[in-house]
Order: sequence, then C-alpha cells, then structure tokens
Amino acid sequence: MTSPRDRLIVALDVTNVEEAKALIDRLGESVGIYKIGLELLFSGGFALAQELTRQGRSVFIDAKLLDIEATVERATAVIAESGATFLTVHALDRKTIAAAVRGRGDTKLKLLGVTVLTNLSRADLAEHGIDEAPLAVVQRRAMMARDGGFDGVIASGQEARALRERLRQTLIVTPGIRPAGADTQDQTRVVTPQAAIKAGADYLVVGRPITRASDPRKAADAIVEEITAALPQ
Ligand code: C5P
Repeated sequence: MTSPRDRLIVALDVTNVEEAKALIDRLGESVGIYKIGLELLFSGGFALAQELTRQGRSVFIDAKLLDIEATVERATAVIAESGATFLTVHALDRKTIAAAVRGRGDTKLKLLGVTVLTNLSRADLAEHGIDEAPLAVVQRRAMMARDGGFDGVIASGQEARALRERLRQTLIVTPGIRPAGADTQDQTRVVTPQAAIKAGADYLVVGRPITRASDPRKAADAIVEEITAALPQ
C-alpha cells in the first residue's frame, strides 16, 4: 500500500541545484517524491536526480519526451538507469509509447503519459488539426498509453474522475492542486488535495503551495493530512 506521504510529489521548480537542495533540506522526510522539470534538468538537475536516488529518495523526471523512436528509447534507458521512479512521455502515438516501453526495459521506472497539456484549449487543438473537445482527446490518448504498457497518465483534477471510470488500474497523477483558500497563481483549473484524491488521483503534484510557503514542511504536512482524510478508510 502506498502511504499518504508517498502520494505527494513536490515540484522543484527552481533553476539551480543549490535552491533545490535547500528546499529538500527544509522538507526533510515530509515528502515522498521530488519532481525535476525541464528548467532544473538543464541546470544540473539530472545529476541531482542521481544523487537523490542514491540516497534512497524517489524522483520524478518531468522530461515530457517526444522524438523519433531511437531517441526516445535511448533517452528513456538513460533516465531509467538514474534510478528514477517516474518519467513523463508525450502519449501522442503508439510508436513513441512503444519506444519508451522498450527503453524502460525491466527497470522499475514508471512511465506516465502526457495526454493534452492543460494549457491547451479546443482552439489550440484545432491548430494541431484536431476537431474534438480536449477531454475526448485526453481519454483516447490515455487509453492508448495504457494499452501500450504505460503505468499512468497526467491529468487535471477535473479530468481525473472521467479517466478513473475508464482506467481502473492506471495511475493518475494530478497537478494543479491548491489547498482551499490558497493563491491559484497561473493555474486556472485547480482542485483541492481532497477533491483530487476523491476524484481518483493516485498522486498529487504540488509546487508553489509548498515551495513558496513560509514554512514548506508545515505546508507539506497539511497536504499529507488532507490526502489521509480523503483516502477510503
Ligand atoms: O506551482 P504549481 O503547484 O502550480 O506547480 C505544478 C507543477 O505541475 C509544475 O511543475 C507544472 O509544470 C506541473 N504541471 C502542471 N500542469 C500539467 C502538467 C504539469 O501544472 N498539466
């Protein structure tokens, strides 16, 4: 069983390793998984990921891979070797999905499909030549990722419920989390930790509500408590 603390993924959205380490020191054992995104990956974040996994911590590499199959396969294999627990890959077509699955091999890396980025509206999808509502596209790509051997998908709290009805075993990882009353910043479709878990999310990705809090550890502990209260007893 995954403990409530292990369901909390903290986004280390900073651009240097010193700041990331300072945050990790402040958070201590209160957080289960650390997410390293593009800005930190390109400023020493991959070496940090390797260091964290050597210390026994869980790491989420948010690389959102998309390229020709040979590149996706090799990149996934290199990331898997770092000991990371999660990697994001765009779930746009079967070739990309199959390449990532080959690259993962028999390592413990869990592959998460990015379906439709949450900043994209129906009008943006039309620019891709897609005349469908975002949710329909999210559902189709999520099922393709599942059928191709991915472990889970990234989905907003509002999509999580519809996805959970169709995908019973697939992991749902939900960003855009804001505790009740918190500043929404640039996120528009936010849900509380409790609502996300009740909608069927397995893991929550939380950035600024923790990283910009005056006491990050207290903020993380409060979210873990909310996760605990929302899980079926
Ligand atoms: O600070 P905040 O809690 O908004 O950070 C959310 C994190 O989740 C960021 O790292 C952001 O890149 C990521 N994310 C997101 N929406 C997605 C996918 C990832 O907010 N659809």
